[in-house]
Amino acid sequence: MASNLTKKEIERRLELWRSFGMSSQRTSEHLGLDRRTFDRFVDRHAAEEKLSSLGQLEQTEIVKLPLPVKGCTRYLLTCAQNNTDIHRGFWENLEAFAGVIDAQIMVSSFTYKKTSLNTSNEKKGKESDITLSEWFAPEIEPYITSDLTLLAPTLAWCSNLQILPTAVNPCSGMADYTGEASSVIPHTKVRMEPVPTAMDKPAKHLYSTGACTLKNYIQQKAGQKAEFHHVFGALLVEVMPDGNWFARQITANGKGDFDDCGTELSMRGGAARPLKGVSVLSWGDIHRVNIDEDIRRMCWGEGGILDTLRPKYQIFNDLTDGESHNPHEQKNHHAQHRLFLEGKNSIRAEFDGDREFLDKEANRDWCESIVIWSNHDEFIRRYLMSSDYRRDHQNASFILRLELEVYTAIEEGRDPEVYAKALNSATAEVYSNDNDSLVIEGIDFTRHGHTGQNGSRGSVAQFAKSGAKTSTGHSHAAWIIAGASSAGTCSKLDLGYNKGFSSWSHTQTVTHKGGKRQQVTCNAATGLWRGGKVKV
Ligand SMILES: [Fe+2]
Repeated sequence: MASNLTKKEIERRLELWRSFGMSSQRTSEHLGLDRRTFDRFVDRHAAEEKLSSLGQLEQTEIVKLPLPVKGCTRYLLTCAQNNTDIHRGFWENLEAFAGVIDAQIMVSSFTYKKTSLNTSNEKKGKESDITLSEWFAPEIEPYITSDLTLLAPTLAWCSNLQILPTAVNPCSGMADYTGEASSVIPHTKVRMEPVPTAMDKPAKHLYSTGACTLKNYIQQKAGQKAEFHHVFGALLVEVMPDGNWFARQITANGKGDFDDCGTELSMRGGAARPLKGVSVLSWGDIHRVNIDEDIRRMCWGEGGILDTLRPKYQIFNDLTDGESHNPHEQKNHHAQHRLFLEGKNSIRAEFDGDREFLDKEANRDWCESIVIWSNHDEFIRRYLMSSDYRRDHQNASFILRLELEVYTAIEEGRDPEVYAKALNSATAEVYSNDNDSLVIEGIDFTRHGHTGQNGSRGSVAQFAKSGAKTSTGHSHAAWIIAGASSAGTCSKLDLGYNKGFSSWSHTQTVTHKGGKRQQVTCNAATGLWRGGKVKV
């Protein structure tokens, strides 16, 4: 927007700035302006003088917002590019959504100067329509924030940041930027990364937001890649009176419509309507014998997440922990003695418990259960290869039944279904390998995540590079990298073998009809996974 300040006012501000040693922070505080707005003012009116600035002593100030007394305080965080129109459908929905759920919209503006980034080399006939003066869409002006703000004691909104939309990873180098607090980073991409913390500290994540402005990139490699990854979206944050908080990705389709599982609302054409179920609930790894009992109640208990969201499919990764036959512990006689004393070394009993959980507690007649072949399922195959049933009296007959399945399969020329046979579920589809193809809403749910390319170990980053949309587990930590996501875990967060700082979290992946995903991180201590349902 063109400046409408008088010459006298411009001079007054510049004089003040000089008197504060060219410190934008101190001057903007004095004037009651936000820092980035004042930076832009200096760029416009004293660019050359600014180059001679000698810096400042102060670190960027952190603004702390109060916690709600009751209920929750909601924020919708997004970003906007200069000289670019908003996505009208998305913006209409976002403002309407904010009104219905009583959320405060905050927009971080960023400048991507097409004029200074060699646009003269764009392809002939596709040159950009470059405007020299800087402006922002008038719709976002009332919502612009430029501060580093603590929305809660452990969650920072870094609207002060300015990261080029062409950055491959907007979160790189930002893991410690807000200390032990999680960070929300304004950026056109949607990304979620876990940051390992001490076991007694809350889970820490870096989130990037998506944007409310249209795609507007220099048509060269960096810009063309960024255009592909540009998301019309926001991050919904719900801050609770005790300082705990929830964050979920709001991702719009081409029309700007979106769904939110936490408030149970769907936004369509600027109007809110009740969310009618979701497509897939992909649970964090189950590890049934080592499941967190609070998470178990929250997910499958009466009125829990499953019954609330009524997914068409629920996906189980690492359903079986394999504690009774873990190959890593077979030669550890101390561990084996502990299992013996606790009555946990019966393989049959472990699978009986898994089956009962799957077929009774987690079973719903309106939801299809699918058990993905996982690395802990592989334990039973490895046990067959290494154990001696003649000395394992506890498990001998169970092992021999599975051995019969293997021998029969070999004779019939098919792959043995050892895990499915051991689990013997009456209700779920159980995979015994990851050669099947389970694609729902355009997302591949087939893989647990432990096998990667060409026999290597899998990782979310590796899946993201494949170009396919994937939803996996295995990492026990919540990720979103481009089209690849990973749920966390439903197990206890300390299983003994994850020593040191940990990035594990109780995060479930929700896939809506149409394929947009949200990561839902549960709080086992409070028994909550959202700020609350909103009625319309
Ligand atoms: Fe696991």
